[in-house]
Amino acid sequence: MAKFVPVDVFDLVIFGGGGDLSLRKLLPALYHRDHDGQLPPESRIIATGRSEMSREEYLAEVEAAMRKHLRGNEFTEDQWRIFSDRLQYVRSDAFEPESWGELGSMLQGFESRTRVFYLATAPSLFGAIASGLKQNGLITDDVRIVLEKPVGKDYASAREINDQVGECFPENAIYRIDHYLGKETVQNLLALRFANSLFEPLWNRSNVDHVQITVAEDLGVGQRIEFYDQVGTLRDMVQNHLMQLLCLVAMEPPANREHDAVRDEKMKVLRALKPIDATTVRSHTVRAQYESGAIGGQAVPGYLEELSSGASKTETFVALKMEIDNWRWSGVPFYLRSGKRLRSKYSEIIVQFKDVPHSIFPESSYKVEPNRLVMRLQPDEGVNLTLMSKEPGPGGFDLRPVSLNLSFEETFGVRYPDAYERLLMEVIRGNPALFMRRDEVEAAWSWIDGIIAGWEEAGQDVEGYPAGTWGPTAASLLLDRDDRKWGKLD
Ligand code: BG6
Repeated sequence: MAKFVPVDVFDLVIFGGGGDLSLRKLLPALYHRDHDGQLPPESRIIATGRSEMSREEYLAEVEAAMRKHLRGNEFTEDQWRIFSDRLQYVRSDAFEPESWGELGSMLQGFESRTRVFYLATAPSLFGAIASGLKQNGLITDDVRIVLEKPVGKDYASAREINDQVGECFPENAIYRIDHYLGKETVQNLLALRFANSLFEPLWNRSNVDHVQITVAEDLGVGQRIEFYDQVGTLRDMVQNHLMQLLCLVAMEPPANREHDAVRDEKMKVLRALKPIDATTVRSHTVRAQYESGAIGGQAVPGYLEELSSGASKTETFVALKMEIDNWRWSGVPFYLRSGKRLRSKYSEIIVQFKDVPHSIFPESSYKVEPNRLVMRLQPDEGVNLTLMSKEPGPGGFDLRPVSLNLSFEETFGVRYPDAYERLLMEVIRGNPALFMRRDEVEAAWSWIDGIIAGWEEAGQDVEGYPAGTWGPTAASLLLDRDDRKWGKLD
């Protein structure tokens, strides 16, 4: 059974408190933890935003969002009353010094509490907000600042933001969010690898043929399109979520799960990534954009039809072949792909083991297929291991691949908490282990910058793919060339 350990009394200030992330993710996550009895009654949530709004108006917006985003019967009038009592709204603008006063007075007298500033804003505001907090004397001893991803748009801007925020807050008070690290199934990767003795001896170049990481979404970019067009999938998904998953799969066993132990190991993987540049982008990367198509029987428009300018080379799909130059993984390709408007929302990690060295079943009607370990991140979270088995019955010796299939929901029968629930509680507790350290973010950007520069220099085209498919043909060819196939193609 899940245990809810109450956290210390806190004040959580959310910059961008009326924005999409707050309404869709942060406030519902806090609502759940409040409902579970984890939040001390005196704790406050103070939303700030640039809109002129009364507390009542803000509460009405939040209530509507809660009714929309909470599942089934999770919203109740009683729980909403308790939760909304904690909520305040204050207008503030990072660039208007006089607008900080109200927030200051609201926090005055509460200096001994844990204080968290959550920056759910554009990254270009992170530096200004951090220095506003400092200039207005709002940084206390027990403080943290949370930076929502993306931290910057390349290595240089990430450094600049890190420098600006670092001038106001010590590194151990800066929590850079990658919400994938808070997902139960991603956490479970650590359990699978390091709480079982079965896999670790096989987890290397001698036994693993290749690894695949897929994070597919059926949604398009919707309302965010004008923002997204400046970013693209490589920056939005690969630089953070997919590269973090790769690090967790590829890293050496850490000594423990304390703050820096895991992050040090992830960092070593990032440092060992073989660069992709203008000479290798064509053979190692695919960039593509969705065209009109149909998903679940519904016609959907193409990216360019949704975009006001109607012209763009921004990618909504990326596939990569990555290599890790170290003793454990030398020669083992890691194939990553992520895209919008694909056939369904589907994320998984596949570890494909090597063929048996010699088959003693030449007459079998099935070829001996190599074992495959699939970690399904969403939906239907679980683990699947394919094994070869003898088909029962007389006559001959026929083999067939069968699955050992573990569904977490069936096994544990509990609600899967949203990643933000855990992450928010870890911030309040002061445990940075699930957050990205400065060097990780910068190393990931510097590797990604190589691809972006390579695309420019090599003039690599953006392919098209019909919405509702698994991406462009070029993504299949990336694996076909190596005589391999993506796991999910149907
Ligand atoms: C966000 C990206 O970080 O992750 C979005 O900015 C993406 O573009 C989202 O849709 C996917 O998260 P999840 O948890 O739904 O897989």
